[in-house]
Amino acid sequence: MDAPPGSVVAVIGAPGTGKSRAVKAAAAAGAWPRRVVYEPHARRDRIEEARGRKLYPWPGSLVSIRDLMRRPDLLDSDPLALVVDPAGLDAVSMGRDFGTLARLAWHTGDLTIIAEEAAIYARQALEAATLISTGGRHAGLRLIAISQSWTRIPLDVRRCVSDVIAFAQSEPRDVDELGRKCGRDFAERVRRLSSGAIPCTWRQGDAG
Ligand SMILES: Nc1ncnc2c1ncn2[C@@H]1O[C@H](COP(=O)(O)OP(=O)(O)OP(=O)(O)O)[C@@H](O)[C@H]1O
Ligand SMILES: [Mg+2]
Repeated sequence: MDAPPGSVVAVIGAPGTGKSRAVKAAAAAGAWPRRVVYEPHARRDRIEEARGRKLYPWPGSLVSIRDLMRRPDLLDSDPLALVVDPAGLDAVSMGRDFGTLARLAWHTGDLTIIAEEAAIYARQALEAATLISTGGRHAGLRLIAISQSWTRIPLDVRRCVSDVIAFAQSEPRDVDELGRKCGRDFAERVRRLSSGAIPCTWRQGDAG
């Protein structure tokens, strides 16, 4: 999770393998003093948690994307722990809102964007991934995309990925495609992971 600014990190794995838990643990340990989490389940998780279910919602101030558009200065505080709720629930509006968040992030700088359930709107995330992978180093931006499946992230976005954190997978095709990006040895290690195991990590420039 020590990815430098400009990194696009994909955290991938089958449902329930510990992706969100690991990213939350890194955030709680102080990895990203300025972070914003885009979380389609933010509101529901908090409501369910209040009813007694153990869902471990993301900590931070919950704001809607509309709040942020009205008050972009909400992104300027330091430290920052915001949780952003998309306005719509369909993939297209979720993607559009994510793009809006990325542009606002670009203007404030020095920020880590954590994209929960990225597979849902990943097709629309190309703009953000490109922005961060091409110029995020100067703006101090990082993108951490959490997804249940590698191949549900479109190829153009996958090309921007600089780091992969792979938990146990459930789709053999995901592992095959990971091999193309990260090398066959990495894919073999991922194939052998069992649910709950410590993930395999790959960074651009590693053998592969
Ligand atoms: N803070 C926590 N403390 C203890 N257990 C947790 C915590 N967060 C999550 N868990 C548990 O760890 C397991 C993995 O949950 P996690 O939410 O990380 O899965 P995930 O890989 O993000 O799955 P999904 O793709 O469905 O979102 C679950 O059994 C969950 O209840
Ligand atoms: Mg999760």
